Amino acid sequence: MPLKLEPIQLAFLVCSFFIVDFSDAYLAPIAARLPLKGTPSPPGTPWPEPMSANFSISIATIGNRDSITFTSNLNNCSILNSAFNRYSPDLIFRDLPVESASGYPVFAGIEIILPSGIENQCGEYPRLALEEERDTYEKYELRVEQDSDSTVTAKIQAWTVWGALRGLETFSQLIWQNGTSNNFFINISQIVDSPRYPHRGFMIDTARHYVDIPVIETILEAMSYTKLNVLHWHIVDDQSFPFVSKTFPELSAKGAYLPELTYEPEEVQDIINYARDRGIRVILEFDTPGHTHVYRKSFPQLLTPCYGDGVNPGTPSPDKHAAYEILDPTKEFTYSFMKQLFTEIKNVTKDEFIHLGMDEVYYSCWQSSPEITAFMEQNNYTEYSQVQEHYTLRHLDMVKSLGAKPLIWHDPLEFGVNLDKDIVLQVWKKNGSDWAPYLQHALDEGYQVILSSPWYLNYIAYGETWREYYESDPVLSLPNITEDQEKLILGGEACVWAEYADPTNLVQRVFPYIGAIAERLWSPISTLDKNRTDDAMHRLDQHRCRLLWRGIPAQPIFNGYCFPQEKSIRRSSKK
Ligand SMILES: *[C@@H]1O[C@H](CO)[C@@H](O)[C@H](O)[C@H]1NC(C)=O
Ligand SMILES: *[C@@H]1O[C@H](CO)[C@@H](O)[C@H](O)[C@H]1NC(C)=O
Ligand SMILES: *[C@@H]1O[C@H](CO)[C@@H](O)[C@H](O)[C@H]1NC(C)=O
Ligand SMILES: *[C@@H]1O[C@H](CO)[C@@H](O)[C@H](O)[C@H]1NC(C)=O
Ligand SMILES: *[C@@H]1O[C@H](CO)[C@@H](O)[C@H](O)[C@H]1NC(C)=O
Ligand SMILES: *[C@@H]1O[C@H](CO)[C@@H](O)[C@H](O)[C@H]1NC(C)=O
Ligand SMILES: *[C@@H]1O[C@H](CO)[C@@H](O)[C@H](O)[C@H]1NC(C)=O
Ligand SMILES: *[C@@H]1O[C@H](CO)[C@@H](O)[C@H](O)[C@H]1NC(C)=O
Ligand SMILES: *[C@@H]1O[C@H](CO)[C@@H](O)[C@H](O)[C@H]1NC(C)=O
Repeated sequence: MPLKLEPIQLAFLVCSFFIVDFSDAYLAPIAARLPLKGTPSPPGTPWPEPMSANFSISIATIGNRDSITFTSNLNNCSILNSAFNRYSPDLIFRDLPVESASGYPVFAGIEIILPSGIENQCGEYPRLALEEERDTYEKYELRVEQDSDSTVTAKIQAWTVWGALRGLETFSQLIWQNGTSNNFFINISQIVDSPRYPHRGFMIDTARHYVDIPVIETILEAMSYTKLNVLHWHIVDDQSFPFVSKTFPELSAKGAYLPELTYEPEEVQDIINYARDRGIRVILEFDTPGHTHVYRKSFPQLLTPCYGDGVNPGTPSPDKHAAYEILDPTKEFTYSFMKQLFTEIKNVTKDEFIHLGMDEVYYSCWQSSPEITAFMEQNNYTEYSQVQEHYTLRHLDMVKSLGAKPLIWHDPLEFGVNLDKDIVLQVWKKNGSDWAPYLQHALDEGYQVILSSPWYLNYIAYGETWREYYESDPVLSLPNITEDQEKLILGGEACVWAEYADPTNLVQRVFPYIGAIAERLWSPISTLDKNRTDDAMHRLDQHRCRLLWRGIPAQPIFNGYCFPQEKSIRRSSKK
């Protein structure tokens, strides 16, 4: 059933006040020479934009730091209890004192209402919502309303604990501070909200640079503030193998940068649980048959020797291939090794999906290899894509036999490999800035897809690059898409390949820009017009201030300063 889309109703009359006078606004971007584009949003405007929201200009005052009580009809639910602890006074008010403003009704607390009988979810992990569940899986209804005793309360109705978490996040965003006063308010409001897509992710790469666990946790926190729900963890690659395998400990012993720059399986599971508490799935990626140079350090027999000089195995060819770079698809050892490794991976991960990579299998090494030539003759193969297919299909079948669902980059499709239709493809390629034909191709072939092509945050450019992310739409950017094909789109992911990113700059690189992608994937489809993007800038800037306020070092998106957050954050910097 399609979502019912309703326009957002904002208090336009009140907004116009902010155009004239920024002095009271939450955010103060500075229009220095030319007028600022777009309509500033009032304080307490949530990001991403809800499916349907009505805000009144009637407000309630927050009584004091501890006066927001959290309750639920679902007792003893660890996911909700830990969320109640997170949405603590510190998150909402930092270290500020909170004083009740006279003359306003007092806000009492928030109550979460869930259907009875879903207690078991409290011990589960979030997953990709099934098609028939998508209307309710992360849906919530949030009403801030005046009760008969004249106090104001908030009520969240949700259908799953994950929906309740999304509602709590929106609730926390509705509370605003009046200037630098100690008065905090919440508007009477009604919100009905549910995401446009069930898969809204971010990919980290911990092979090119190791990312410390506390930084991954910060990313997960900030993702939950932005309603992203999948951490795609590209954990190993050519450069390093930080995952500690109990089955093959040599992999990290020889492949990690340093013994301490590793992730023990227990640490991976801790991260998965940290993510689960925030309604975020963790999908592990172990990329093969390319991007496997690191396996050679401990298991040299896994890789095809390349014949760069035409005579000797294990010789590179400048600009074409390395001495070894792709798994050897001709040996049974390759398959039995991978079966053991993936059995362990399946036991560590909690998600039904495992990402199997399959990208950038370049043929020049195989072309140089007499062993591959002999293998092709034996199998009657005439194309190198058949060698790729040989590995790909066996590997996919093996992973399916372990009970996991494979997710792969779309390269095999582009190389003409015949894949089963139940494989989910992640589309990343672009030709210049043109990516729509790649997505269209995957849809024409009938695959379910996750889009990443327009959302590589590792490309650094001057200016407001988030606008391009915001204006890339999986449906509106495809002139030829059919209604049936729209249903094959599961969502999208922002990616950061980490050649030039590590814990010193990763969080700043990603936040708040990824918010543009999060809103594209969460909020109802809307036209791609520049005025909407201009308006979004103000809300995104407000969200950036909110992230700063919560301790996330999100980079600026424009001139200006966060008012009053920066004043509070910097209070002690100049005395
Ligand atoms: C909330 O109420 C205040 C005070 O009436 C008003 O200025 C503001 O525009 C309202 N917020 C929204 C999002 O409408
Ligand atoms: C609460 O849940 C935990 C397990 O999550 C269980 O051990 C405990 O007995 C429960 N307590 C009550 C009061 O139900
Ligand atoms: C917010 O603060 C301003 C300046 O102190 C004051 O004029 C205004 O009445 C306050 N707004 C509310 C809703 O209390
Ligand atoms: C907001 O108001 C409009 C117009 O009255 C209504 O159609 C819509 O259902 C309301 N949305 C919510 C979330 O209450
Ligand atoms: C599976 O994981 C558990 C702990 O989560 C561990 O005790 C067990 O040895 C693992 N089994 C395999 C085959 O890796
Ligand atoms: C290759 O082709 C030959 C001749 O058509 C056939 O006899 C042989 O069985 C084929 N081998 C394989 C592995 O398909
Ligand atoms: C990329 O775009 C250029 C210019 O539009 C075109 O000539 C070329 O064939 C395209 N390449 C691919 C791989 O589609
Ligand atoms: C849409 O179809 C037209 C006509 O077949 C084609 O020229 C164009 O490349 C297609 N666009 C995309 C994004 O696939
Ligand atoms: C965009 O905003 C400009 C300036 O306010 C206005 O003239 C124009 O009509 C708007 N365009 C659309 C499509 O709403």
